[in-house]
Amino acid sequence: MGKNRGKHYDMLSWAIRLEGRALWSENAVCGATVYGESLRKFGGIEYRRWDPSRSKLGAAMMRTKHDKSQLLPKEGTTILYLGAGHGTSISHLHDHLCGTDNDLGGRIVAVDLAPRCLRDLTHLAKTRPGLVPVLGDARKHAAWGILLPKKVDWLFQDVAQSGQVEIFMGACRRFLNIGGLGLLSLKAASERWTGEGEDALFGKVEEQLVENGFTVDECIKLTGYEDNHVLFVTRRVE
Ligand SMILES: C[S@@+](CC[C@H](N)C(=O)[O-])C[C@H]1O[C@@H](n2cnc3c(N)ncnc32)[C@H](O)[C@@H]1O
Repeated sequence: MGKNRGKHYDMLSWAIRLEGRALWSENAVCGATVYGESLRKFGGIEYRRWDPSRSKLGAAMMRTKHDKSQLLPKEGTTILYLGAGHGTSISHLHDHLCGTDNDLGGRIVAVDLAPRCLRDLTHLAKTRPGLVPVLGDARKHAAWGILLPKKVDWLFQDVAQSGQVEIFMGACRRFLNIGGLGLLSLKAASERWTGEGEDALFGKVEEQLVENGFTVDECIKLTGYEDNHVLFVTRRVE
């Protein structure tokens, strides 16, 4: 915990700052915004406001009961992000993982099957080296898996489509190191479920993950930022 003119803040990583209840990431591309977020200087350094209502990862950081920084990948590493969307969360991950001109040597393989998302990601990648946009289906590893010759230690999935859990487990088996962190954002409405309501569905998914060789460290409800969503914080153990 540090102090800035009487205000308390936490550095969750070298680039991610929690100021009061607001998350900020040090802007890797000074002066540029990605989705209309505000810019602000702290100690002469420019940060971008990370809006948790626009980013499941941001929402999970705000809602976790554990150390927020444990949800982040290690800077300078390679990560896999499935369901990249328009790059909102990815831009903040890039600030942390790569920094300006990718001084840290990080790499984000960002997969999405929507061409309109790829357009935005490709535009983003022009000023953010280390970001690798891929037009592809998270289920069809053969088409893009060559981009990841080595397994990664951090994998995030937010595809909001039915069969999310199987897609996630398949991707983790193929691309996540044993012991690596796998984050699954689950949208209740995307699952075919005839059971007893959302909590029972989330409980069933947790069981399924455990039966298939994952530990589940936390199920973070994103209520208030993304209703009917949970982020499962898992580790691959076998
Ligand atoms: C909720 S959005 C992702 C938002 C993004 N994660 C963020 O926080 O900025 C879900 C995305 O998953 C993509 N998607 C859905 N099914 C997919 C699949 N099978 N493979 C890859 N992407 C998929 C959609 O095109 C959409 O862009």
